[in-house]
Amino acid sequence: MERTFIMIKPDGVQRNLVGEVIRRFETKGFKLVGLKLLSVSKELAAKHYDVHKERPFFAGLVQFITSSPVVAMVWEGDGVVASARNLIGATNPLTSPPGTIRGDFGVSIGRNLIHGSDAIETAQHEIALWFTPEELVSWEPTITPWVYE
Ligand code: RTP
Ligand code: MG
Repeated sequence: MERTFIMIKPDGVQRNLVGEVIRRFETKGFKLVGLKLLSVSKELAAKHYDVHKERPFFAGLVQFITSSPVVAMVWEGDGVVASARNLIGATNPLTSPPGTIRGDFGVSIGRNLIHGSDAIETAQHEIALWFTPEELVSWEPTITPWVYE
């Protein structure tokens, strides 16, 4: 079953949107298999955003991600990687449609509330970066037959 890595960024935690974000993933029908609140080290933030290390916003992005706690999660379900990106919306909250998390709650590209893996391979890499295997829980929600045909 497909899994994705989701992080509620420092602005999402500070703005009390943790419950709102979890609610959206839960009510969509995805299954939570990993969850923790943590202060992110510079090293982990830099590894997570390694693909952007040559970009002008990289230093500011690492500074931001390490400035206050984040909520790291792993969600599981059919097509969850692409679907999570749809739930999250576009990188720029101003051009992200209403109904998406960024479209409903954000205005600034540097305060876009939440991260979601952009591909299945990226998700596997990010899950291994943020979670140990023991931190991920295999379980079967009783509602599964009411979510999947
Ligand atoms: P994320 O990785 O955080 O889920 O966001 P994303 O895929 O939608 O966007 P990405 O291109 O991967 O950029 C990573 C984060 O860098 C910040 N950013 N700032 N100032 C800028 O032009 C700029 N561009 C990107 C954003 O916070 C973005 O989420
Ligand atoms: Mg990205």
